[in-house]
Amino acid sequence: MQHISVLKEDVQKYLDLKSGEVLVDTTLGLGGHSKDALEKIGEKGRLIAFEQDERNLEEAQRRLKAYEKQTVYIHDNFRHLKTRITGSGFDQVDAILFDLGLSSPHVDEEDRGFSFSKDGPLDMRFDPRAKLTAAEVINEYREEDLMKIFFEYGEEKMSRKIAGRIVERRADKLFSSTAELAEYIESVVPRKRSKKGSSSHPATRIFQALRIEVNDELGALSDALEQIINILRVGGRVVAISYHSLEDRMVKKFFKKLERPVATGENAIYSNFDDPIFESITKKPVIPSEKEIEENPRSRSAKLRAYIKVREP
Ligand SMILES: C[S@@+](CC[C@H](N)C(=O)[O-])C[C@H]1O[C@@H](n2cnc3c(N)ncnc32)[C@H](O)[C@@H]1O
Repeated sequence: MQHISVLKEDVQKYLDLKSGEVLVDTTLGLGGHSKDALEKIGEKGRLIAFEQDERNLEEAQRRLKAYEKQTVYIHDNFRHLKTRITGSGFDQVDAILFDLGLSSPHVDEEDRGFSFSKDGPLDMRFDPRAKLTAAEVINEYREEDLMKIFFEYGEEKMSRKIAGRIVERRADKLFSSTAELAEYIESVVPRKRSKKGSSSHPATRIFQALRIEVNDELGALSDALEQIINILRVGGRVVAISYHSLEDRMVKKFFKKLERPVATGENAIYSNFDDPIFESITKKPVIPSEKEIEENPRSRSAKLRAYIKVREP
């Protein structure tokens, strides 16, 4: 199993950890960023690590064995951030990291059903304990719901046509594998070449949409962001790396509201116009260098944003 951590140095720079601090890694993966952080916080520091995928969690635990005494592992979705952290005996923490989306083993291991370059079952669950699979979405969702998720989560312009054709085809034969679905989508919307000569598979956006739907990725992120307002201490830092525009937009909009809280209406709870609760410490999103993208093409869409909490709401 291998996963190359993205923006490794920037993550540590913006987390800015000191000896004895408590970090929450909401997306442990194979533990790459956590390992660097554990070195910084030292023996007195604590890492609280969330991972909803059991395979990754076990592998990370093996890799981080030397730091066992400093670490609390939580096999759960980060949408339960607050209850799981307080339930583990912590009140407020010093830093929180989100390195969103999937890890390389998800794409590399075909039985997980995330990849269409390798044939596998239409699954796409980060957590196999969850009920909804990609096969159920493709074979059972109503045409208008398919169209909606392709359009909203895949930002696919041909969503109507693709949803219609999927519904037609499944009336004859249900879809069961990733390669079969990808091939069918390619027969509906052929590949387009960009001016530079590269082309992306027309199934890429549909697979992104399915993954977001199956794992309720945006719902989980939205829930977790709301909870960090209280879980983080004043002076605490949040670092978030997103890999598609929907996630990045959600992070950006959420903190914008806290940088310029409004006194009335639905956000009245945050009170005091112009008295920020969070301040941005990355004026523009940090992105990987050309060298990093060349060495690790999976980093190419990454955007890192970091914030510091400046007062209690
Ligand atoms: C990009 S990888 C993290 C890689 C890690 N930072 C490293 O350096 O090895 C994202 C990980 O977060 C997990 N994940 C995604 N969404 C999650 C959620 N809502 N709750 C818990 N874990 C999640 C995925 O299973 C995946 O292992």
